[in-house]
Amino acid sequence: MRKIILAGNWKMYKTQAETLEFLKQFLGQLNETPEDRSVVLCAPFTALSALSKSLHGARIKVGAQNIHWEDEGAYTGEISGDMLRELGVRYVIVGHSERRQYFGETDATVNLRLKQAQKCGLIPILCVGETKQQRDAGETEAVIATQLEKDLVDVDQNNLVIAYEPIWAIGTGDTCEAEEANRVIGEIRKLLTNPNVTIQYGGSVKPNNVDELMAQPEIDGALVGGASLEPDSFARIVNFQPMA
Ligand code: 13P
Repeated sequence: MRKIILAGNWKMYKTQAETLEFLKQFLGQLNETPEDRSVVLCAPFTALSALSKSLHGARIKVGAQNIHWEDEGAYTGEISGDMLRELGVRYVIVGHSERRQYFGETDATVNLRLKQAQKCGLIPILCVGETKQQRDAGETEAVIATQLEKDLVDVDQNNLVIAYEPIWAIGTGDTCEAEEANRVIGEIRKLLTNPNVTIQYGGSVKPNNVDELMAQPEIDGALVGGASLEPDSFARIVNFQPMA
């Protein structure tokens, strides 16, 4: 069975105080959320502890936004799996396009981070997706196939989430049409050895388009940036309404 996972990626937003304020307004809106939906918040490292402590008993799971591939060592500015585990982290985003674009992340380092996450008992959320230029050149499928081929070497597909995030749709308000997102995610699924991997869509997911996206048969969840920062809008996303 494929799991439904709604995850917020807070990127470099929210102090600890802002995190607690968010929770105050958010948690009460989860009372009616169907049990079969997992809710994850991927917060900055500095907010993880506050998040974990205040979620005691709540149904939200904590996620991080990066993990180093070594157990420990002289890697200034990086974070280890054990450090994350100690803070109650269960999920970790790996290979987000912002890390690939701005911080020199390559498919080789993405692969190392994925394997380390799994070794440390964390569930990695692998992000893949094409640029506008690649899409316009008709290269979408080929770009994603290459990413998956390189990123997933020796990765356990029973312990993995994938997020299809077309780069041109991130932070632009320019959502990928639901049917097109569904089509690409279907193509991704064909390339996996485990067809039951949860595959999310990410890129300008908002309260006003989540119902349509989640109605698509291949889309198992959402990875939400901007709209996850505001409690009411993320609550509406988590409480998406199945369309008839
Ligand atoms: P937006 O929802 O702000 O477009 O961001 C998507 C994203 O990058 C999630 O990882």
